[in-house]
Amino acid sequence: MNGFQPRGDGGGELSALDLEEQVLDVFVQALRIRHGYDFSGYARASLKRRVRQLASDLEVARIGDLIPRLLYEPALCDTIIEHLSVPVSDLFRDPWVFASLREKVMPVLASWPRINVWQAGCAYGEEVFSLAIMLFECGLARRSQIYATDINDHALEKAAEGIFGVERLADFESNYRAAGGTAALSDYYHARYALLRMRRELGERVTFAHHNLVTDGVFAEAHMILCRNVLIYFSQPLKDRVVKLFADSLVHGGFLVLGDKETLQFSRYADCFSPVDEQARIYRLRRRAHA
Ligand SMILES: C[S@@+](CC[C@H](N)C(=O)[O-])C[C@H]1O[C@@H](n2cnc3c(N)ncnc32)[C@H](O)[C@@H]1O
Repeated sequence: MNGFQPRGDGGGELSALDLEEQVLDVFVQALRIRHGYDFSGYARASLKRRVRQLASDLEVARIGDLIPRLLYEPALCDTIIEHLSVPVSDLFRDPWVFASLREKVMPVLASWPRINVWQAGCAYGEEVFSLAIMLFECGLARRSQIYATDINDHALEKAAEGIFGVERLADFESNYRAAGGTAALSDYYHARYALLRMRRELGERVTFAHHNLVTDGVFAEAHMILCRNVLIYFSQPLKDRVVKLFADSLVHGGFLVLGDKETLQFSRYADCFSPVDEQARIYRLRRRAHA
C-alpha cells in the first residue's frame, strides 16, 4: 500500500489530487480494519476509479465522506465489495479460450483419474457453468470437482443459484457455438419467464466458497486453475503472490488459465510454467516455485 504518511512538514498546501490519494489510503486501511478486506495491493488507478464511483452512487461528495459510513454502517460492506470487486463475466467468455481448452487441455485431463478444477474469481458463476458444460461434453464430469471461489459473497450466493437473465441468451448462444459446444445450449438450462435456470446436474460437482487471493492460502490440489480477469486489478507484487499461490496449488503438469489481458511474462514465477497456448493464456506447471 502507499503507506499513509501525513505530510506534517508545515510546508505547502496539498493539492486536491494529493489529498484524495491520502484519503484513499485511509479508506483502504479503514476497510481492512473494519471488515478484513485488504485492497492495498490493487492497481491504484482502477481502484480509485471504483471508489469514486462508489462515492457517486452513494451520493456523497468525496471519498473521505465514505469513511464514517464504512466504519459505522456494517450493512454497507456488501455494497462496497460489489463496487470494488467488478463481478462482470459471461458464459464462455472469450470463446476461443474454451475452444483451446477443449482441444489442448481436456485430452490431458482425461488421462487423470480425478480432476480438481479451481476457478478463482468466479463472479456470478458464468465461467463455472461454462466449465461444467465443457467437462460434461468431454465425458469428464463424473470425475471432476470444481471449486469456485470469490471474495464477493453476494456473487457467490447468486452463482450457486445458477440463474441468469434471458436477455443474455443471444450472447451466451453465440459464445457457446464459437467455443465449440457440441450440443444445443438449450440442453443445459430451463427457461422460465425472463430467467434461465441452469440445469441442477451442472452444479452437482461444484463447491462455491469464499476465498480471498490477497490473504488466503493454497486452496486445493488442483489439476487446472482458471483465474481470468482478476489479476488485471492487482499490482505486480500482488500478482506475484497470487501466481506463486497457484504454482503451490497445482499438481505437477497442472494447467493455469489467465485472462486475455493477463500474462506471466513479467511474473517472478514465470519460469515455473511453460506456455500451452500463449494467445489463450494457457500455461502448464513445469516446476515448483522457490520461496
Ligand atoms: C471481472 S470478474 C472475472 C470473472 C470471471 N473470472 C471472468 O473472467 O469472466 C473479477 C472477479 O474477481 C473477484 N475478485 C476480486 N478480487 C478478488 C480477490 N482478492 N480474491 C478472490 N476473488 C477476487 C471479483 O469479486 C470478481 O468476481
